[in-house]
Amino acid sequence: MPELPILEGILEYVKNNNIQLCMPGHKGGRGFLETTIGKDFLKNLLKCDITEVEGVDNLHNPQGIIKESMELLAKFYGSKKSYFLVNGSTSGNLAMIFSSFNEGDKVLIERNCHRSIFNAIIMRKLKPVYINNLMSHTLNAPVCIDLEHFLQVLNKNKDAKGIIVTYPNYYGICSNLEYIIKQAKKHNMKVLVDSAHGAHFGIHNDLPQSAVKLNADMVVTSTHKTLSSLTQTSYLHVNNMEDIGKVDFYVSAFLSTSPSYLFLCSMDYARYYLQTYGRQKYEKMLNMLGYYKDKINSIKGMKVISKKDINIKQKIDLYQLDSVYDIDNTRYVINLKEGYSGYLLGNYLRKNNIQVEMSDHSNVVLIFSPFNEEWELEKLYNVLKRCDLNKIKVEKLDLLEYNIPIMAYMPFEIMDKKKKYIDIKDSLGKVSAANVVPYPPGVPLINMGEIIDDVTLNSICYYINKGVDILGLEDNKIRVIDEFNGGQKYE
Ligand SMILES: Cc1ncc(COP(=O)(O)O)c(C=O)c1O
Repeated sequence: MPELPILEGILEYVKNNNIQLCMPGHKGGRGFLETTIGKDFLKNLLKCDITEVEGVDNLHNPQGIIKESMELLAKFYGSKKSYFLVNGSTSGNLAMIFSSFNEGDKVLIERNCHRSIFNAIIMRKLKPVYINNLMSHTLNAPVCIDLEHFLQVLNKNKDAKGIIVTYPNYYGICSNLEYIIKQAKKHNMKVLVDSAHGAHFGIHNDLPQSAVKLNADMVVTSTHKTLSSLTQTSYLHVNNMEDIGKVDFYVSAFLSTSPSYLFLCSMDYARYYLQTYGRQKYEKMLNMLGYYKDKINSIKGMKVISKKDINIKQKIDLYQLDSVYDIDNTRYVINLKEGYSGYLLGNYLRKNNIQVEMSDHSNVVLIFSPFNEEWELEKLYNVLKRCDLNKIKVEKLDLLEYNIPIMAYMPFEIMDKKKKYIDIKDSLGKVSAANVVPYPPGVPLINMGEIIDDVTLNSICYYINKGVDILGLEDNKIRVIDEFNGGQKYE
């Protein structure tokens, strides 16, 4: 057992000097080394780790340099007001949900959302009404919001106070946010966007439009995921000033009272870098990624996805709409031919010192930033080309279309109920006290408070039999509420 398990473990990890095709966006500090001010920051890194002393302002009551920097941030992204978050997009999602909705409010929510959103629903005691995601059988993963289902849910729930959308998802795929905002606004619903993976959107014409520019009411972006900023840093952008007093309160409430100045400096820097060099850097990067995408696509058995591979046209009223609005070309989703495993390809890449962001049954996701270099792409290509497909063979997995079960209790009501574990086979008709999420596809089959029906039970058993990782189960047992006697039902 090492004396310093974390420190020694991390030092060992960085010694291997992996090629980082994953977060964070600064890629081992390269993002700071590109400018004089960035180098100065790195040189003085630990000296910049200060607390609120005279002259350096206060994040919880910004009047000086932090206020100035927040104003520059809002101007650059085109929001009415923007905030620095030192507790990640998780805190931003909590803050925007708490400031936009009150206890008991009905809110429309994309089923495939991040757990910080599910947690906020519980903490704010909201009544969620879920919107389905479309599955792509090419990708074997959820691609985007099902626009037909969105319209049905919207028209049936005109009393909902708002809608929460993820844009883009982990695969860099963007739902048709423009259409969703237009429809939601007809019913005066607030549109909150979790754009954790989209902090760089809008900087180049070949990237998806920023959710701020599409006029969402509030948008959260993880600065650390794609920009040159330290892990745990994020921005919250506000377009609709109606709740601004509450936003001020909740942002402050969800952030540490000892915010890291290293984080604040790096968020200031990420905006500066994007504003000063972004367009030209992304132009170069997108050209390079386009070139290597073609090369990788010539390798048998694998393909870096494009919008046309996954877009599903949906007939809405008289129009054919693209359900996939756009994709993020700074990300590679390497999709494998049926029968080959993304997990095994991910392991193979790691063994070759290439750190991937995520892998699933059929795909490997790689995140690039302007600080990745051409030799890394060349190495990626060569390693992929050398991959022996026979070594990454896997049993076929068909992702199931899923239904959204009936809700017996709102998720927050489950917290104080007595619960027990039962065998999944005996769970039909019981109320789940867990969110059961197979990876892939990463979309909950059931959320807490919902009644386990035939379709859901069959789906859970299917994924268990296929050996898929499932969050929310323990040894094939599920937590349910102890006594369920019909309870209150929500449609
Ligand atoms: C879609 C989405 N939203 C929110 C978050 C939370 O972001 P953070 O890690 O910055 O708290 C994540 C994290 O991976 C995410 O993928």
